[in-house]
Amino acid sequence: MTISVLVVCLGNICRSPMGEAVLRNEALKRGITNIHVDSAGTAAAHIGEDPDERTIEVCGTKSVPISHSARQVRASDFTSFDYILAADGSNLRALERHVGRREGSKAVVRLWGSYLPDNKPIQDPYYGGLDGFTEVYEQCVKLSNAFLDEVAGKKSYGDNSTDGTRCHRAGMEDTP
Ligand code: 4NP
Repeated sequence: MTISVLVVCLGNICRSPMGEAVLRNEALKRGITNIHVDSAGTAAAHIGEDPDERTIEVCGTKSVPISHSARQVRASDFTSFDYILAADGSNLRALERHVGRREGSKAVVRLWGSYLPDNKPIQDPYYGGLDGFTEVYEQCVKLSNAFLDEVAGKKSYGDNSTDGTRCHRAGMEDTP
C-alpha cells in the first residue's frame, strides 16, 4: 500500500515545501518508494508561487530535490490524504476548523512536531535570515525520521518482505 502525507504551513513557500522535499528524500534514503508526499498552505497569498529562494538554496546545499507550486489546503485533502502534518499550532487550528474536517475526513491531522517528545512547532522563518531556513531543514530531517519510524516502521513499511497486515496497521495508525 501507499501512504499519502500532506505537509502544511501558512504560505506553502517556506516550511511545507521544504518539509515535503525532505520527507520524500528521507523516505527514499530508507528505500521507501510507496509514499506520496505533497504540501499546501492554510493561506491563499502565495498560490502558484515557487518555493522561497531561501528554501530552494538550503535544499540545494543539502542536495535535496525540490519542485513545488504553492497551493491552498482544500476540502478534498481531508479525504485523499492519510496524514496531514501541521508546521505549527496556528496552522493545526486552521486545519481543525477547515470545512474538509466535517466532510468525511479520513486524514490523521497532527502537529508534525508531535512525532517527537518535545512536541515543538516549526517556527516561521519568513522574516529572518538563511540560518532560520537551515534550522527548519534540520528540524524537517528529524521530524521526517520520527514520522517514518512511527508510521511506516523501520522495516515493515519499506521492506516488502514483511507481512501486509503489519504494513496495513502501520499505515492506518490513529491519532493519540
Ligand atoms: P511559510 O512561511 O508559512 O513557511 O510558507 C511564510 C510565507 C509567507 C508569509 C508568512 C510565512 N507571509 O506573511 O507572506
